[in-house]
Amino acid sequence: MARCFVTRELPGGALERLRDRHQVEVWESGSPPTRAELLAAARPAHGLLALLTDEIDRALIEACPELRAISNYAVGVDNIDVGAATAGGIPVGHTPEVLTDSTADLAVALMLAIARRLAEAEAIVRAGRWGTWDPAEFLGRDLHGAKVAIVGTGRIGTAVARRLEGFGCELFACGRDDRDGFERALRAADFVTVHTPLEPRTRGLIGEPELRLMQPTAYLVNTARGPILDSAALARALHEGWIAGAALDVTDPEPLPADHPLLEAPNLLVIPHIGSATHRTREAMAELAVDNLLAGLAGERMPRCVNPEVYAGSSG
Ligand code: DGY
Repeated sequence: MARCFVTRELPGGALERLRDRHQVEVWESGSPPTRAELLAAARPAHGLLALLTDEIDRALIEACPELRAISNYAVGVDNIDVGAATAGGIPVGHTPEVLTDSTADLAVALMLAIARRLAEAEAIVRAGRWGTWDPAEFLGRDLHGAKVAIVGTGRIGTAVARRLEGFGCELFACGRDDRDGFERALRAADFVTVHTPLEPRTRGLIGEPELRLMQPTAYLVNTARGPILDSAALARALHEGWIAGAALDVTDPEPLPADHPLLEAPNLLVIPHIGSATHRTREAMAELAVDNLLAGLAGERMPRCVNPEVYAGSSG
């Protein structure tokens, strides 16, 4: 029986399967463990099930001498020093595929919401300022038939593309490795939607030069990771009208403090990192995260492992 630390209670019954086999401590507080609390709770653990808000860096990994498996309750693993885990022979699991469609749905919802001004329109109804029907009020822009740049052509970007084909959009798939194609797509697009993982080479991928390439009528949507966009440049772009608007499910930092300058920018819709937040998807993520941890602790290959090289030369 291994000792496991789980940094938050998860939706659904998946953790029961972990409790059936191992000794499990779940962080019960409503707020995430502090660094010191995380270190203290993880130090004796053989298995760690972490959230994207837990920083599992080299110092933490090296402070946990018993650690045999790390399972991240997210597809993105930018909160984990995967190199340090690999150096320690520790497999790292993540949760791809099960959240692809929910996140793609949300990206499309954000495109529609910002371009059709849903938040603004709802606010005037609630404020009692719904006047008579006006031919020129709340004019927005169409998603159907629009040109859309999809930055990142992995699972989620591809799922967004599938949905937008149904809207009759003209799609420009572009990746971080083709700078010319990326710039052409930014110039042409009515919408730019971001779906790359956060890695050193995608941090700040969209900053002032890229925002200035976009059309003043274009919208930017980010459901990937906040630091892929330069927040200060985005605030300037919105204040100065370089682009028409932005809709963000992810920000830098998270949570975004209520007094953050970005929130003063016009034509900005922000929601709190809910791309995968449906009952079915969050439960499926929990099942996969537990499958990964169980396999890692059993010395078997994790179903979804980001550093399979740890298995090289082993029979697992
Ligand atoms: C992820 O999985 O990386 C998302 O950001 C949260 O579901």
